[in-house]
Amino acid sequence: MTFARITGTGSYLPERVLSNADLEKMVDTSDEWITTRTGIRERRIAANGETTGDLAFHAATRALEAAGVKASELDAIVLGTTTPDLIFPSTACLLQSRLGANGCMAFDVNAACCGFMYALGIADKFIRAGQTKKALVVGSETLSRMTDWTDRNTCVLFGDGAGAVVLEADKEPGVLTTLLHADGGYADLLYNPVGVSKGFKEDGRHGNTIMMEGNKVFRVAVRALERLVDETIAAANMHADNVDWLIPHQANLRIIRATAERLQLPMDRVVITVDKHGNTSSGSVPLALDELIRTGKVQRGQNLLLEAFGGGFTWSSAMIRY
Ligand code: ACO
Repeated sequence: MTFARITGTGSYLPERVLSNADLEKMVDTSDEWITTRTGIRERRIAANGETTGDLAFHAATRALEAAGVKASELDAIVLGTTTPDLIFPSTACLLQSRLGANGCMAFDVNAACCGFMYALGIADKFIRAGQTKKALVVGSETLSRMTDWTDRNTCVLFGDGAGAVVLEADKEPGVLTTLLHADGGYADLLYNPVGVSKGFKEDGRHGNTIMMEGNKVFRVAVRALERLVDETIAAANMHADNVDWLIPHQANLRIIRATAERLQLPMDRVVITVDKHGNTSSGSVPLALDELIRTGKVQRGQNLLLEAFGGGFTWSSAMIRY
């Protein structure tokens, strides 16, 4: 049997830091409100002209270096993003050319905050099927480009960033299971109202910005993630106490705590980056994974549970033996 193994990770954050104190000068909010409700203290913002593809390139270069894999060896690039550089070509194709991996399969996946997790699930299936030997999986976003900086309900939550992993075919696991879910019935609770086919200026009420009913999203997210971690443990034929690390989507510290409680996992086994990064959507899980691996805390053979929840709604997970 063939499994996909993570052989290298990388991440990249733009230089500019936007703190809660900075936001206090922009909208009617406070550091106290933001930290209490979300756990976020600061986030990174891409420079003018710095794109999702730029962030992806830096993260991907670091992941390839860590894996000791040349870009020319890649069979596949799968990139999760909701904020592509262009409508087409895909950001994955632009990245492929910049890395010098020309010729391999390359495509974007739009699953909002689950973009990286969906990309991971797809790449895993290609490797298991024997069609791909080395895949680059990326999550990269510049959400700041579609944030309404006058809306305190949303602008305090989001940031820019990217993460990447190299997956290689191996006889040893590897990715044990991935679960991908969606329910488009919740589209109205979290969305961006403009697009190619609907038009870029909807009805004059909305701009190209994130619309969210945060409180309703919060309640559905907590329930969906609780069910999802149970489902993931069962799919991997494990028990909750087999999980060594939780690498959750970094949207809100309260949601992360609820998921950790469901797993009865102490918080020192949960990777937290939301305080420094905010919600970087598709960038969030691979950024947190890279941070964990580069600290050297995770041991080979340990079990990592990755999960995410986002617009769609989408929710998704992976159990990985590192
Ligand atoms: N500063 C101060 N007050 C604020 C702010 C702010 N930045 N934002 C909202 N408020 C106020 C509201 O106006 C409201 O005031 P009111 O009671 O006078 O009406 C009050 O705070 C409470 O608002 P709630 O929305 O009920 O606050 P809640 O505790 O739910 O926290 C939050 C809001 C942080 C958005 C939370 O609901 C959340 O994290 N939701 C989930 C977000 C998420 O996970 N999104 C999924 C991924 S995103 C993606 O896919 C792109």
